[in-house]
Amino acid sequence: MAQSSFIIVAIDGGAASGKSSSSRTLSERFNLLHVDTGSYYRALTSELLRRGVAAADLPAVKTALAGLRLGTRVEGRSAQMEIDGRVAGDEIRSGEVNDHVSHFAAIPEMRAALLAYQRGQADVARIHGFRGLVMEGRDIGSVIFPQADFRFFLHADPAERARRRKNEGQQDSIVERDRLDSSRKASPLTVPAGATSIDTTFVTLDQVVEQMAGTIGLKLKS
Ligand code: CDP
Ligand code: CDP
Repeated sequence: MAQSSFIIVAIDGGAASGKSSSSRTLSERFNLLHVDTGSYYRALTSELLRRGVAAADLPAVKTALAGLRLGTRVEGRSAQMEIDGRVAGDEIRSGEVNDHVSHFAAIPEMRAALLAYQRGQADVARIHGFRGLVMEGRDIGSVIFPQADFRFFLHADPAERARRRKNEGQQDSIVERDRLDSSRKASPLTVPAGATSIDTTFVTLDQVVEQMAGTIGLKLKS
């Protein structure tokens, strides 16, 4: 692969498997725009909840989504989603959003509202002079960028992941979110065929990143 070519790195996995931490480090190492698509689902969920829209009320979800103007703000190496000109804050990590996000994310119209937007982040990365894009989520290697140059799937024991979230001071039902994300019909959480699967239960973040960076570095040199 030529040194100058634009690269797309897709990282999927369950909650607290290490996606965000490893993506951030890879974005610095290889000059990639970091896109945390979970934060997009969280921001939309937070906005719909703020408007009093329930996930079970599909007409209300559709009407609310159709009225939102989505934009992107690049802060450092990270792409932040603007909703009507505003980037959401810490409220997207609240217990309430943790409890509701997988229900909203299972709605096909919600996923459709984000599909083209997420693919468009590659253009944002090019315009801002990045060497490529590292995008993390649940369906990046399977649906958003199935042709990504690198596709990784991170997993870890649920008890270890729950411990990690607790260490971060978060109230989060990881097992329930995994169950909803894996069992939904629209773009379920799944290991994409051909992705490199990494078990992060007993290894440090540095080791995870080194494995990924080694794979990327090798291909870039070839
Ligand atoms: O940080 P954590 O791994 O706990 O979750 P996240 O990446 O912030 O994602 C929050 C939720 O958004 C997930 O539990 C999924 O329901 C949804 N999501 C999704 O459906 N598809 C994506 N590409 C990313 C997130
Ligand atoms: O993005 P995702 O929800 O998959 O996970 P994260 O936010 O990157 O990681 C959740 C927490 O687990 C962070 O505090 C990481 O430092 C920690 N972690 C860890 O201790 N060991 C790993 N191998 C991976 C993550």
